Amino acid sequence: MSVEKKDFKKITTNVLQQMKRDGEKISMLTAYDFTMAKMVDAAGIDVILVGDSASNVMAGHETTLPITLDQMIYHASSVIRAVDRALVVVDLPFGTYQGNSIEALNSAIKVMKESGAHSVKLEGGAEIIDSIRRILTAGIPVMGHLGLTPQSIYKFGTYTVRANDEAEANKLIEDAKLLEETGCFAIVLEKIPAHLARKIAEAIKIPVIGIGAGAGVDGQVLVTHDLLGMTHEFSPRFLRRYLSLYQDITKAIKSYVKDVKSVDFPSDKEQY
Ligand code: KIV
Repeated sequence: MSVEKKDFKKITTNVLQQMKRDGEKISMLTAYDFTMAKMVDAAGIDVILVGDSASNVMAGHETTLPITLDQMIYHASSVIRAVDRALVVVDLPFGTYQGNSIEALNSAIKVMKESGAHSVKLEGGAEIIDSIRRILTAGIPVMGHLGLTPQSIYKFGTYTVRANDEAEANKLIEDAKLLEETGCFAIVLEKIPAHLARKIAEAIKIPVIGIGAGAGVDGQVLVTHDLLGMTHEFSPRFLRRYLSLYQDITKAIKSYVKDVKSVDFPSDKEQY
């Protein structure tokens, strides 16, 4: 699937739900800027996530907590300008939806109005259900996010696999059903046992997109910079790297530095 010739159908939440019914897997990747989003969309990805992982990948923070709503809107509007086909989902950042449902609605409306995004994603289940319900009443599609929810890293204390014990697994199943009943169009499940993710994907009708959640779900999401090997220090077991761009880019830049120092660049052909 390539979108070079504009012979494609735009991806909507309904299209994603039909894909689940048809057994067609959903592909999802992150993007935070125009240039990357152009390539990701042109390659035929179904969903682009403007993730709050921008806080780590773009800004170099240790966690996703510091990124602000305005910073997310800046990233999202750059992505939206690049995208022709994919559905664009934007993370509501930490502290913009947990307080109360009016705050959540205002945050979601601001993202939709100022970036042109197609939907928002929120982390959590029963504890934020009023916020999700209120956002949905404004006609804004919501994607849920359960399992390892990085905005709660200081509660978990570690980024290891979640829901290994029965109590947490049962809560996860209940939360997934609640998000479906409330009207979420899809759910991300992050870093949970594959057998549990499969069970959840089979128990609900909306698409379940996994990251570190095995092959039994309805689609997969990764952080594009990880997949391309631009972030070389982060190597979780679930990550498949398709390129080693950290090495390739530093090698290319070393060559440029050498050429500038030796006055090999610019050559006669590279000047006016
Ligand atoms: O912010 C993000 O990149 C995410 C994905 C890891 C699902 O939420």
